[in-house]
Amino acid sequence: MSEPGRLAGRLVALGITGSIAAFKAVDLLRLLRAEGADVVVLMTPSATRFVAPLTLAALSRRPVDADVLDLLPDGRIGHVITADAADVVIVAPATAHWLGAMAHGLAADVVTATCLATSAPVVVAPAMDGDMYAHPATQANVRILRDSFGYRIVEPEAGSLASGQVGIGRLAALERIVDAAIDAIGARPIRKPDPADRPPRLIDADDPARDADDLAGRHLVVTAGGTAEPIDPVRFIGNRSTGAMGFAVCEAARDRGARVTLIAGTVSAPIPSGVKLLRAETAADMQAALASLVLAPTGAAGFDALVMTAAVADFRPAVTNPTKIPRTGAGLTLELRANPDLLAGLGRRVDGLDETGAPGGAPIVPRPVLVGFAAETGGLERAAAKLRAKRVDLLVANDVGEPGSGFGTSTNRVTLFAADGGSEALPLLPKRVVADRILDRVAALLDARDAAAQTGATSAAGGTAS
Ligand code: CTP
Repeated sequence: MSEPGRLAGRLVALGITGSIAAFKAVDLLRLLRAEGADVVVLMTPSATRFVAPLTLAALSRRPVDADVLDLLPDGRIGHVITADAADVVIVAPATAHWLGAMAHGLAADVVTATCLATSAPVVVAPAMDGDMYAHPATQANVRILRDSFGYRIVEPEAGSLASGQVGIGRLAALERIVDAAIDAIGARPIRKPDPADRPPRLIDADDPARDADDLAGRHLVVTAGGTAEPIDPVRFIGNRSTGAMGFAVCEAARDRGARVTLIAGTVSAPIPSGVKLLRAETAADMQAALASLVLAPTGAAGFDALVMTAAVADFRPAVTNPTKIPRTGAGLTLELRANPDLLAGLGRRVDGLDETGAPGGAPIVPRPVLVGFAAETGGLERAAAKLRAKRVDLLVANDVGEPGSGFGTSTNRVTLFAADGGSEALPLLPKRVVADRILDRVAALLDARDAAAQTGATSAAGGTAS
């Protein structure tokens, strides 16, 4: 297990104001989470125009507070709860406007209101154009915050700015901001350790196990994106998969402590950081990549779980023309061959079966947990049969025809089918939350697998002794 972070158990209120540097707050949030912090995000209205609250809600697992007049669902005043519970308030990036509002106590947004209402230390990281930062008005406001209010100012750095100028105004390195927050908290006790005294979590995200490193020490393999089956050197048969769902699984697994290997096909979403990347263009490449990972050099299982989100092409051109096929007046007929079902092949391999399903080779030990996806159009009737045919432990089925679900969306509505016959229909959720729900199941299946192996080993040992 990894070491507890320097902010373990702490509630950090992260206030974001409307600077172009607001996008960096996403990485700042990740760093805070990596240090073990529980984070609640507060945004000024203009900040929401630079970075989507949905992203920050999914990563912090809490609703974002962006409206000073909004009440919590139970009638409590959000910024007051946050102000009373936070161990530190970080405002990053802080704009010139926000510094001015704060210096004069103008609580028209949740970030200012929370700072006014809190007795927690406040860390402020300004970011703006160099001339704006150098202006006597801004400097006077910074002095008020630092000298009169005791706020810690993490001074901006020199460099090229969004305005095109070079000067002092770039948001400080994120590690400096995290260090300043840790320093500001010092040895103070945790203010409100009881989750009931903190701002609410996202629906479905209030399981305490969710915050644990419950996948630490596990190796997860995730396939993502589509495959490109070449017709000739320039053309291919592909599909609409962007890789976003698989990437959400990678990020969630990484954040829960797993070592992650990503096998990426054709993808258009940005590759997640902190994972080992293998590229696979065709179904055959993906099959080879999986085969290279399935066994460790010791002969034991090479991974603990496989999450197969990739949209693997079911057909490939029978021949790939070595040169570009010229356009002629006549049409073109392509002969397609079936690709193997990679997941079904792996399911058989894991259980020691050959291509025909007959015993053929040793089962893989410990048995990796296999998760398949099923993209359906017009109903999920075939899902249970797919689960059995592919020998997977969990099948995540979604109707790609439904609005908000499937390719190119940030949300997904899925139903989880388990090998024991149970199924759970989830509501429309951000893909990251869906990823966490899938990983809840994977973590539980792995724990059950290990517990069963322990019991087996104990009873075997007992048998010998008696
Ligand atoms: N899959 C695979 N190899 C293939 C096709 C699919 O490993 N050649 C995997 C996918 O990654 C996914 C699961 O199988 O995890 C289900 O994919 P889906 O396309 O829904 O199912 P198919 O088996 O291809 O069935 P159909 O196309 O008839 O819906």
